[in-house]
Amino acid sequence: MDGTLVTADFVDVAALEEIPRRGARTVATASGAIALFRTGRDDVFALRDRCPHRGGPLSHGIVHGEHVTCPLHGWVIDLASGAAEGERAPCVARFRVRVEQGRVLLAVNGP
Ligand code: FES
Repeated sequence: MDGTLVTADFVDVAALEEIPRRGARTVATASGAIALFRTGRDDVFALRDRCPHRGGPLSHGIVHGEHVTCPLHGWVIDLASGAAEGERAPCVARFRVRVEQGRVLLAVNGP
């Protein structure tokens, strides 16, 4: 994560343990649902919970490595970049997220 980030940008949204390993949970925001993904290595990523193909809920997908496979038609999304595998565009909006002392902090104001 970016060490220059200001803590005040972040909101405490969950405990790390509330996100299943190799799974996800969602956070409701004024601009729509954000999916928090937890990898098998306990890294956490935050993406808009909407597949760029036809809007499927990425939070219901299968997390593998640092990717999630959409549950509807199988597009594979890179959790770090938000890019869809094999596609130049569009990408899924990313949000800054970090874990401190077992709490997940999300920058809900945007990527
Ligand atoms: S909606 Fe995600 S692959 Fe189609």
